[in-house]
Amino acid sequence: MTLSINKVYNKDCLEGLDQLDSESVDLLLTDPPFGIDFDKVGSQYNRKQKDLGQIYTEVKEDYYNFTLQWLQAAWLAMKPTASGFIFSGWNQLFNILNALSTVGFRLVNHIIWKYQFGVFTKKRFVTSHYHILYFTKLPEKDDKLRTFNRISEYSSSPGKLYFEDVWRIKRDYQKGGEKTPTRLPLAVTDKCVRIGSNEGDLVLEPFMGSGSVILSCIKYNRRYIGFEISEKIFSVAQNRIQMIKQQLNEKGDNLERWLANKR
Ligand SMILES: C[S@@+](CC[C@H](N)C(=O)[O-])C[C@H]1O[C@@H](n2cnc3c(N)ncnc32)[C@H](O)[C@@H]1O
Repeated sequence: MTLSINKVYNKDCLEGLDQLDSESVDLLLTDPPFGIDFDKVGSQYNRKQKDLGQIYTEVKEDYYNFTLQWLQAAWLAMKPTASGFIFSGWNQLFNILNALSTVGFRLVNHIIWKYQFGVFTKKRFVTSHYHILYFTKLPEKDDKLRTFNRISEYSSSPGKLYFEDVWRIKRDYQKGGEKTPTRLPLAVTDKCVRIGSNEGDLVLEPFMGSGSVILSCIKYNRRYIGFEISEKIFSVAQNRIQMIKQQLNEKGDNLERWLANKR
């Protein structure tokens, strides 16, 4: 492999994915660009065009072929036992579902992430959910090999709700520092990382944005590799990664030992 593990790269994932070792990734966890015209629907998605244009790279044309291309490359990088979570709004959901099935993935769950969103709309319902597609490379007959951790603190009632396919999780209120319009709350990325992978597993995030998936990997001792095309948003991710490593070290967690043991 020409790329290092436990590193993030400021590059186009289409280039980065081709440089990964084949069948090395345990979990694909990603929030790809939405491929929507924010001039028309921005307020539905809590993503203002003005901010997005400056820092965030959107896919404007042929979303299906773009999705097919990066998913095919991801398939090659994933172990035969690997699974994945993809976040999607409703506009491009059909393209992602079609591409997943064309590449050969098997859908396990279609999760609704319900969040609060206090916007006013005149003639339509307010969008206050995302779709999270949970899928695997494994055929049904080998499904017992799929990692699905019943995290013990949530396994008994009343924690059972944690394993339902509607997740009620608030968006973070971003206090101070650099704000990014598309940031996923760690409560969501932590959940995907903890359920879908084991300590030391390699997690791939091709569209890292401000890096929430990577932060969850560091917190829960997963190896990671991330790509982000926009320079400005990449630097936000790098700052957040630095900060969480520092916080873990201050708490006395020996992050370097963790990571070294899992290489
Ligand atoms: C929906 S956002 C991800 C947000 C992220 N989950 C977070 O917590 O901040 C998608 C990201 O993909 C990036 N992107 C778009 N095309 C890309 C490409 N070809 N390769 C890598 N990153 C890309 C965008 O700049 C954007 O930051």
